[in-house]
Amino acid sequence: MARLKLYEYPHPVLRQKAEKAGAVDKKMQKFLDDMLETMYEDGGVGLAAPQVGVSERILVIDAERDENHPGNPIYMVNPEIVWKSEEKVVGEEGCLSVPGQKAEVERYASVRVHYTDYHGKEQEILAEDFLAIVVQHEMDHLDGILYIDRISRLKRNMLIKKLEKERKEKAVEQPHS
Ligand code: NI
Repeated sequence: MARLKLYEYPHPVLRQKAEKAGAVDKKMQKFLDDMLETMYEDGGVGLAAPQVGVSERILVIDAERDENHPGNPIYMVNPEIVWKSEEKVVGEEGCLSVPGQKAEVERYASVRVHYTDYHGKEQEILAEDFLAIVVQHEMDHLDGILYIDRISRLKRNMLIKKLEKERKEKAVEQPHS
């Protein structure tokens, strides 16, 4: 497996609408493995292909992994939301492409998702609670949407200012990286 390069805000690849992915083959499985490794190494719970510079409708999620659990990765190729609950929830979200930042975002409390899995099989799951939030966050990436687009302009401007300030400070601390 290999760690992939992560693209961060405001890279334009994060703003593209991703193309439908082709059939799951060995090459795609290798890419899914690499995406999962990249996500784990960077401490994320979800990663969408545009975040590693590939504008295709592919994502990986592991909403269960922590110090005490080995994890339960879900690979989704061409996911589609086929049902969403009327109920909505507000939860705190972060994103590997918007490093170090967090904000509260409103999402559907549960969604039913149809997708192709790691083995090329059609699957459908009912995502609830935290998994529902992660699925919606990652699927947004496939449409060029970041969670910061779903907060108020005032909060977004503050968050981006903070991100840029932290990047500058980091650049001063690590002049050779
Ligand atoms: Ni994200």
